[in-house]
Amino acid sequence: MPDALELLLKRNSAPKLTAPGPEAEALAMILAAGLRAPDHAWLTPWRFLTVKGERRNALGEVLAQALAERDPTATPAALDKARQAPLRAPLVIVVMAVIQEHPKVPPVEQRLSAGCAAQAMMLAAEAQGYAAIWRTGDAAFDRRVVDALGGAENEEIVGFIYVGTRAGPSKPLPAREIEDYVSDW
Ligand SMILES: Cc1cc2nc3c(=O)[nH]c(=O)nc-3n(C[C@H](O)[C@H](O)[C@H](O)COP(=O)(O)O)c2cc1C
Repeated sequence: MPDALELLLKRNSAPKLTAPGPEAEALAMILAAGLRAPDHAWLTPWRFLTVKGERRNALGEVLAQALAERDPTATPAALDKARQAPLRAPLVIVVMAVIQEHPKVPPVEQRLSAGCAAQAMMLAAEAQGYAAIWRTGDAAFDRRVVDALGGAENEEIVGFIYVGTRAGPSKPLPAREIEDYVSDW
């Protein structure tokens, strides 16, 4: 089977990630793959923030602070979990959709394009021997988090892509039958 097909068919998210994460050259490939997302009218309706090393603690502070404001009853354990979240991988790529006014490209298409960029980056990570997982949660949809990350009013978080080296065994892939989802029409 061609390598590209095998990559597509075997992609497997990794909930547990560890060091090493991709260094400059591998990371550049990952980001370049994101930039090849299908994109109506070439609006490039996305941008990516890379968060590594010590900066993951700063992201954790943003997540914890946003949670505290969103939910004043959040327990210290929940706040701590939010603070530690970005430390679950050596690299977090924040994928943002940059929604633009366009007569032919509605916002939904721009969000989908940003989602395609996220998927392309996960595949590029796996292609180079790394692993990844796409996470969102309430924090992704919290304006406070977008603002703290420097996002403009027309920018949204589509996902936090955690990238690193898989820790532990790969999970079994779900058995899905084509005929359960596909029919000739
Ligand atoms: C938009 C989006 C948001 C997601 N958010 C989370 C999340 O916050 N936490 C989580 O554990 N999994 C989340 N997932 C699911 C995982 O990324 C992953 O797809 C899932 O664990 C199944 O693994 P698989 O991709 O290998 O089939 C999200 C997936 C998508 C597409």
